[in-house]
Amino acid sequence: MIGRRKFLNLSIATFIMMSSKETYAEGKIIKRYKLVAKPTDYSFSNNQNLTNLWLLNNSCPGPLITAEKGDILEVEFTNLLGEPTTLHWHGIRNLNSMDGVPYVSQPLVETGETFVYRFPINETGTYWYHAHNKAWEHVARGLYGPLIITNNLNNSLGRRDILVVADDWLINENNQVDEESFGNLMHWSHAGRYGNRLSINGQFSPKIEIPSYGPLRLRFINTSNARILSFSLLNKNSLNVISIDGISCKLFKTQKIVLGPAQRVDLLIEDSSQLKSLFEVSNKEPLKVADFITTDLVIEDHLNLIDPIVHHEVPPLTSAKIIEIHMQGGAMGNLSSAIFEGEKKELRELALDNSKLWAFNGHIGNYDFQIAKVNLGDLIILKVWNDTNWPHSMHLHGQHFWVNSQEFGSEKRYFFRDTYLMDRGEKAEFIFKADNPGDWLFHCHMLEHHASGMGGVISVA
Ligand code: C2O
Ligand code: CU
Repeated sequence: MIGRRKFLNLSIATFIMMSSKETYAEGKIIKRYKLVAKPTDYSFSNNQNLTNLWLLNNSCPGPLITAEKGDILEVEFTNLLGEPTTLHWHGIRNLNSMDGVPYVSQPLVETGETFVYRFPINETGTYWYHAHNKAWEHVARGLYGPLIITNNLNNSLGRRDILVVADDWLINENNQVDEESFGNLMHWSHAGRYGNRLSINGQFSPKIEIPSYGPLRLRFINTSNARILSFSLLNKNSLNVISIDGISCKLFKTQKIVLGPAQRVDLLIEDSSQLKSLFEVSNKEPLKVADFITTDLVIEDHLNLIDPIVHHEVPPLTSAKIIEIHMQGGAMGNLSSAIFEGEKKELRELALDNSKLWAFNGHIGNYDFQIAKVNLGDLIILKVWNDTNWPHSMHLHGQHFWVNSQEFGSEKRYFFRDTYLMDRGEKAEFIFKADNPGDWLFHCHMLEHHASGMGGVISVA
């Protein structure tokens, strides 16, 4: 294990090496950002007292980070939180050393320390970044932001390219983040920590400015700890999906979009004049969560709203290696005991003594639990069985995977994504080419589930 000081030196050395001409051909642009994490008083709406959050650059969501495909992204991250954390670049096919997972790909960034993330950007799309240490608390307090990669940006998104970053907050009667519920076993063993307020772009019921006519791209990101969100634009009964988890797809229509924690969907709206309000429709009564207001000031940005489709075909599976993952645990489940730190223990004991509740193949997962070891270049089928009574939003780091599913009410078809929402009892196959070397997490993005055992590492060597 390399010590932190040594690691920092090493990363500075890498940094110097990487800026040399040898590594990067001329014309590569290095896009630089600075992010500082610290406790911040924040206003979700004008008529409420301030809420103490943990934010990046005092911003909720964190600052929009943009880059163009082909750039190098460099983010100098400074931690002033008072406890250690890291940043993960969700959905980016990253270098393993820049993936931001504590204990697996980097040491924790302690208070007062700075860590430089620096990696090439190879795909366009809608991504996000978030804290990855104690994510169940750090993300819930506000440590995340959008990351958008396009072909044609001049530092900011065009006026026809609109972010919809949705988050679910558990706010108490003093208008503060409900701290008492952090670590609540009831949440951890059930659906995760659900909130009571929904923010869109860091505001409760905001007005989102759009041009008064012409096409728009809407980029939805669900940054909730655990809540599954469904959106519709009630006056429009068919929505055009153009991208899923950052990857452009052939346009198809759906009536509403369902987003598990960490998932993204981009829509193309033909004419902004049709947009009135945004509704969250998981419950019988649709909840209006934002209004669109048009501005007359129309600057025609000649922005190509749709990214080219890079064809990601499902490869022939004849030579694929199969890895079985049997997910068990949680409330009303069938897990009676599991192996934790090398010892078999009863679930009751695991829950009460260790806050562990979920298992993969009979093992309580954590950062040092290896699910499997595969060879670089292998084609892998993860055969995942959600043998629990809860849905789970399963995320694989470092690569997208194909999954044959009936999402969006369609007939079965393959989607190429980085996070897949599994129904209770569902069996699904996650197919991926293991061509990105390193140790990659596979975990539930309902962050309380991950913390209580639902995660492990797939090593590609
Ligand atoms: Cu977005 Cu391991 O997470
Ligand atoms: Cu889960």
